[in-house]
Amino acid sequence: MSNLTTQLRPLLTAAFIGLLLSTSSSLAEDAGNLYNTTFDINAGLRYFERQCSRCHGFDAKGSDETGAPDLTGRLSRASSEVGIFNIIRTGIPGTAMLPVAADVADAQVWQLVAYIGSLSTDPANIDLPGSIVSGAGLFTNKGACNSCHMIDGQGGRQGPDLSRVGERRSPEELLSDMLTPHTDVAPRWWTMRVTDNDGVVREGLRMNEDSFSLRIMDNDANLWSYPKNQIASFERLETSTMPSYSQTLSDSEVDDLVAYLFSLRKEN
Ligand code: HEC
Ligand code: HEC
Repeated sequence: MSNLTTQLRPLLTAAFIGLLLSTSSSLAEDAGNLYNTTFDINAGLRYFERQCSRCHGFDAKGSDETGAPDLTGRLSRASSEVGIFNIIRTGIPGTAMLPVAADVADAQVWQLVAYIGSLSTDPANIDLPGSIVSGAGLFTNKGACNSCHMIDGQGGRQGPDLSRVGERRSPEELLSDMLTPHTDVAPRWWTMRVTDNDGVVREGLRMNEDSFSLRIMDNDANLWSYPKNQIASFERLETSTMPSYSQTLSDSEVDDLVAYLFSLRKEN
């Protein structure tokens, strides 16, 4: 099994640079799949059952008889949504995998892409390189992630509760959460730096703010309330307080944490 981090790290960097450079470019790849709602995934599923399942199987797990591969894990011929789109659109020359009929709309092909994509985010189909057990250890020991994050009622409040983070973040997103600086942080996690009328400076998460008062929580979870007329100045820091772990954790440790976080879901 290859190492997820070494594979994705260059991709993430490229995506980040792409983001900075590509505001005006209009490559199809940049837009990604716009047909990716639950509705689209279901439409893709129905189309798949009609046109694709006779070779790939109703569960999309492939069939030895037809030689059509399993589509629920990592694909061998495509590593991106655009790659899958192109396979469906143009087929794989010299194989039984024929292109879809020319009059099938792009939107419908994207719905198939969305359906295939949904298969590989089903945890039952994902085989991650890291170890869940080691990841759980790193979370509380070396990583000290629990100083800011709560899981099942244990841990800090300086970051989001991660008890069910596996349901809302893909392995790729979890990896970038840990490695790349957070340039796009929800207001809930902004930091306020407040200087009161006596010149005392305090920093903390912005808990409440209205016209008359401001409340922050510092690193030790103490709450500080300020009537606004007693504040000399305040500054809003819209970056994350979470450090990047690209230097402090090894690739395999990051893989372990991804495996652990991705396993965190509602108990069935
Ligand atoms: C007649 C049988 C057949 C049908 C119908 C068929 N496929 Fe395939 N498909 C194949 C075979 C065989 C391959 C493997 C070709 C190869 O790589 O040698 C394949 C490969 C693929 C791949 C690449 C898998 C990988 O691991 O990279 C995708 C994606 C795919 N098919 C999607 C579809 C979709 C979507 C449909 C329906 C629109 C469809 N196929 C219909 C036989 C079929
Ligand atoms: C100093 C506090 C702090 C520490 C330590 C910290 N985080 Fe975070 N983390 C945050 C904050 C604040 C956010 C929300 C803002 C953001 O996305 O950056 C966050 C966001 C995240 C997210 C995204 C959650 C979501 O719901 O989108 C993940 C995953 C995560 N952290 C994992 C970790 C892991 C794993 C570690 C330990 C290796 C760690 N964090 C250590 C503060 C922290």
